[in-house]
Amino acid sequence: MRLIFIGPPGVGKGTQAKMLTEKHRLPHIATGDILRNAVRQQTPIGLQAKAHMDRGDLVPDKIVVDIVEERLRDADCRDGFALDGFPRTIEQANALEQVLKRMAIGVDHVVCFTTPRQVLIDRISGRRACGSCGSNYHVVNLPPKREGFCDRCGSALIQRKDDTAATVADRLDVYDRQTAPLVRYYRERSLLREIDADGDPREIFRKLEETVWRRS
Ligand code: AP5
Repeated sequence: MRLIFIGPPGVGKGTQAKMLTEKHRLPHIATGDILRNAVRQQTPIGLQAKAHMDRGDLVPDKIVVDIVEERLRDADCRDGFALDGFPRTIEQANALEQVLKRMAIGVDHVVCFTTPRQVLIDRISGRRACGSCGSNYHVVNLPPKREGFCDRCGSALIQRKDDTAATVADRLDVYDRQTAPLVRYYRERSLLREIDADGDPREIFRKLEETVWRRS
């Protein structure tokens, strides 16, 4: 199964992609996670990406497309993958189409999650992530058993630098301007599956599985 997850910041793409890829043993390719890792390790890509990410802007297309192309050529992606947060511009979508064409494969579904803007803001402002294993939490909706520490590995939870109120507003505007046009792009290719992501994560996961597996 080859999947793409799109949707605004905070809609739950990462949460759902993680649940799906763990259950169905698919590689989870999250460009945001890959870039944050590069920033942490201060690689050349990380150094280029950092200022864009801190502002809530997109990282230049060429950087992200090269990262994704390289990852898709890994052996574990041969039988499927879930792309989370990529593509994010029409240029990235066109580049991905070319990459997949060269690999002689196609995408099965593009899942677009939607939810009202205020819900996105509440989710992002309450999000906490494990600085060590990357597990995601929310101070109200998905709290860890011990406040401030990861259930899985016990490390301290942190708040992302781009999760401040001002940056979140910018990220939502960037989404409307640069990423929302992908909805039409993929609808025209009959690949778009829209899922209302306002509700219990388990119920959304049920809808997600039903949507992608029923249609395959
Ligand atoms: P990225 O990491 O992709 O961030 P994003 O798209 O802004 O998405 P988020 O991670 O904020 O949200 P999400 O939808 O994954 O929600 P989550 O599951 O965490 O990108 C970060 C930056 O990297 C970009 O701004 C850009 O600079 C750069 N970048 C990345 N990809 C790029 C690309 N392709 N091109 C260029 N630049 C790129 O959930 C949010 C919170 O809500 C969590 O706390 C969670 O626990 C909670 N939650 C989830 N679901 C529910 C639910 N159903 N009910 C209640 N709470 C929930």
